Amino acid sequence: MPAEIINGQQLAKELRDNMREEIVQLKETGLTPHLTVILIGDDPASHSYVKGKEKASAEVGISSNIIRLNADLSEQELLNKIVELNQDDHVHGILVQLPLPNHIDEQKVIETIDPAKDVDGFHPINIGRMIVGQDAFLPCTPYGIIQMLKSKNIVIEGKHVVVIGRSNIVGKPMGQLLLNENATVTYCHSRTNDLKSITNQADILIVAIGKANIIDSSYVKEGAAVIDVGVNRNTDGKLTGDVDFEDVKQKASFLTPVPKGVGPMTITMLLANTIKAAKGLNKG
Ligand code: GUN
Repeated sequence: MPAEIINGQQLAKELRDNMREEIVQLKETGLTPHLTVILIGDDPASHSYVKGKEKASAEVGISSNIIRLNADLSEQELLNKIVELNQDDHVHGILVQLPLPNHIDEQKVIETIDPAKDVDGFHPINIGRMIVGQDAFLPCTPYGIIQMLKSKNIVIEGKHVVVIGRSNIVGKPMGQLLLNENATVTYCHSRTNDLKSITNQADILIVAIGKANIIDSSYVKEGAAVIDVGVNRNTDGKLTGDVDFEDVKQKASFLTPVPKGVGPMTITMLLANTIKAAKGLNKG
């Protein structure tokens, strides 16, 4: 039987419908969640991602603004801007779109954001809280993937999960969140020996490599759940994942498509984090 497709767009819509209702109620108490996005330079992919975040925010009733800055601004100017936003009570969530120009230290920027406004979940304080299992802002892509697995009642506890990719944004936090759900986690990456022998042991396979269609069914155990985090453009400009969809569909039990898979869920969890930030800051 071919795999059941996990429709991230549909799940995202359901979650956003609930958020819209919650925000109507928050607004009645005088609280409108607000997200500020800082976008530096003119990278087309970053512009497109930020546009998506702005549109999704508006759809659920989150107010947002984008601060567009030239790529030649100094690191100190950017840090000053973040400090200003940290001190602005109307701003609940701050997101600095990555990547940054080479002359700006990304880690310094992330660590300047108030952890209580860090809706990306990239600040070391939030990462540390996540690791020890405390309440934290969770990085949006891994957080969204956990929601996708749970939406299909895919058992995580006790299962062998293999994560391919070890970025700070996806791979590393993904493994940690799955560990928190009592999975047995293996990380694979570009230096892994005999990748295929490891991925073939995976009950759940998370693929975050960044190369189009590289994972075919020979990497997949019969009946595995496969999550494709890849966002690639193939030669004819079409969006495609890291997984060879048609091939893996014949072997997996669950599979996420690209597009309409993980992507819409990433943005949805950003909205969830912004609402959480608004409620949290309002309390204090
Ligand atoms: N660039 C690519 N993905 C992300 C993300 O999730 N957050 C930020 N801030 N920048 C990104």
